[in-house]
Amino acid sequence: MKVLVAYFSETGNTEKLAKAVFEAVESSKKETLPIQEVAEVDGYDVVFIGFPVHAHNVPGKVEAFAKKLPEGQKVAYFATHGSMRGGELAVTAFYHALNIAKNAVILGTFGCRGKVKQKIIDGLMEKHEHRAWAEEAQSAAGHPDEADLEDARAWVERMIVKARAR
Ligand SMILES: Cc1cc2nc3c(=O)[nH]c(=O)nc-3n(C[C@H](O)[C@H](O)[C@H](O)COP(=O)(O)O)c2cc1C
Repeated sequence: MKVLVAYFSETGNTEKLAKAVFEAVESSKKETLPIQEVAEVDGYDVVFIGFPVHAHNVPGKVEAFAKKLPEGQKVAYFATHGSMRGGELAVTAFYHALNIAKNAVILGTFGCRGKVKQKIIDGLMEKHEHRAWAEEAQSAAGHPDEADLEDARAWVERMIVKARAR
């Protein structure tokens, strides 16, 4: 099984998750690259795409990448986000991600929290309407942690089983 783990990461959280995802893929034909360095997506059985949630959405670079996937490409999305796991903000970003990759076959998604850089939190704290979310973001400190990475590895195994069955 030929597998690509492509990811975008600004402050290292998604990169850390991508490493765990990559390690959990049991295949000798696997590659991992920052999304900016992927020249062409061709001939992969599964493409894992990792991104940090930005403004409840998928960063532009990741959107451009997902839009260009070959018809019928099997994709599994993973993301890190400051907000609560399974919460509305994170789920909304996944809805966008699914919509963007219209040609793809989505096998599944995985999300966990990722610490938010202090500059972002400070900026949010100044604005009344963002205060609740800024407080939520603060509690993401320390993530992704070992428990998050362990969950991600188990998720990867499920995605590979699914890819084989399709
Ligand atoms: C510009 C910007 C916007 C963000 N917007 C959101 C958001 O809407 N929801 C959320 O849960 N986290 C948001 N975050 C937090 C990041 O998703 C989180 O810190 C993530 O783990 C960063 O991943 P990275 O280290 O791979 O860049 C934002 C971070 C930045 C820098």
